[in-house]
Amino acid sequence: MRIAVFGLGYIGSVSSGCLARLGHRVIGMDIDPEKVALLGSGHAPVVEPGLAALVAGANAAGRLAATRHTDVAVAESDVGLVCVATPSRPDGSADDTQLVNVISSIGRAIRASGRQEYAVIVRSTCLPDVHHRLREILAATSGLSYARGLGYATNPEFLREGTAVEDFFAPPKIVFGAVGREAEAACRKLYAGIDAEVFFLDPAAAAMVKYADNYYHAVKVTFGNEIGLLCRQLGVDPYTVMEVFCRDRKLNISDRYLRPGAPFGGSCLPKDVRALRHAAQLTDVPLKMLQGVDASNRYQIGRLVARIEAADPDAVGFVGLSFKEGTPDLRESPFLEVLRRLVSAGRRVRVYDPMLLQLPTGEHDPISELRAFLAPDLGALTDTCDYLVVTQKLGARMWDGTRVGARHHLLDLTADPTLRRFGTYEELYR
Ligand SMILES: NC(=O)c1ccc[n+]([C@@H]2O[C@H](COP(=O)([O-])OP(=O)(O)OC[C@H]3O[C@@H](n4cnc5c(N)ncnc54)[C@H](O)[C@@H]3O)[C@@H](O)[C@H]2O)c1
Repeated sequence: MRIAVFGLGYIGSVSSGCLARLGHRVIGMDIDPEKVALLGSGHAPVVEPGLAALVAGANAAGRLAATRHTDVAVAESDVGLVCVATPSRPDGSADDTQLVNVISSIGRAIRASGRQEYAVIVRSTCLPDVHHRLREILAATSGLSYARGLGYATNPEFLREGTAVEDFFAPPKIVFGAVGREAEAACRKLYAGIDAEVFFLDPAAAAMVKYADNYYHAVKVTFGNEIGLLCRQLGVDPYTVMEVFCRDRKLNISDRYLRPGAPFGGSCLPKDVRALRHAAQLTDVPLKMLQGVDASNRYQIGRLVARIEAADPDAVGFVGLSFKEGTPDLRESPFLEVLRRLVSAGRRVRVYDPMLLQLPTGEHDPISELRAFLAPDLGALTDTCDYLVVTQKLGARMWDGTRVGARHHLLDLTADPTLRRFGTYEELYR
């Protein structure tokens, strides 16, 4: 492909050298004359292991040039890769000025050239709403439409400084958010030959993947550091602790506990989180992030109550009351807390939980105060409640034959796609 790279800073320089290495013809464009002069003469504008050789080789082979002029870059390419900076403003928001400027000038150059096809791929990190605005600016300034000729995509960048060239050729994943057939086709060709899982999303979701990644990385670093601080105060070696922690690939370094869903609860997490927070307070170590976990979880429980209350249901039915399925343990179940709050607000409430039904009745009944709320089966729950809070995946078969219809409102905390066919369906975060 003929690719123009707009912005020859860190990401733009690495992308230029690596894309040329993949066999594309690349022209780099920047408003900084020094960077243009460097890249144009076969020198890397940034220092990054392996980049100098790539740039020199591509330049010598005639596959890498540079310009200060947007119209030249657009004329020499079919795809524009935007790699300008999105720095922080004093209030923390991401400054999109460079993006707006470069997208407008690419649009104007497309219009001036009279060409009918062009695709722009934004690699810079920016929030979903910015992509929406950039798409509109590109269409308005170029005069082309996404239905015909114009393409827009975002393709967040996951490479790390210091190993950027290596990461480019072996990325953890490739993510695109593409609008228009031209953009999708350009995206597919861009990294042909690179072995990585490819995801095509809408631009907003693709942009959020990048932010979720970076936030998670920041959370990981902070987690390690806060455990380190606490261990030091308690006289424990944090390096050993975290070494063993990281060796657990089943629960710790895995995709467990990472999907948006219900607040945490149960017999262990809430009490142990509180105990560590308390220990930290005693040792005078402010574990800012870890201390926030408890408060965040309590907020989620409150949010759940407010959401149910806002629907003003006649009767709320809980499908599952324990903190997770497969156990009748109700200790610190967030749903029990939600139930209590609804009952004290005067709501009619019922529960269907197959594990609770197995508990002994009579003298040794551990849930005697809850018995009055229990429905004997799912049908009895759906018959008497118009608002169903689904906290456990019971499996589609359990629902078959239950009379769930238009009068029912399902709030599904398990994001079970088989339930979407029932009544008014809502997921917690969708
Ligand atoms: N640096 C990283 O490791 C990294 C990793 C992933 C994502 N990102 C994202 O990639 C984007 C670029 O980051 P960077 O570190 O390469 O930035 P940078 O500051 O190193 O480079 C930006 C370049 O854009 C040029 N520029 C500004 N306005 C321009 C215009 N109108 N036309 C052409 N060029 C223009 C600047 O002169 C500069 O050379 C950011 O959104 C960043 O968040 C960076």
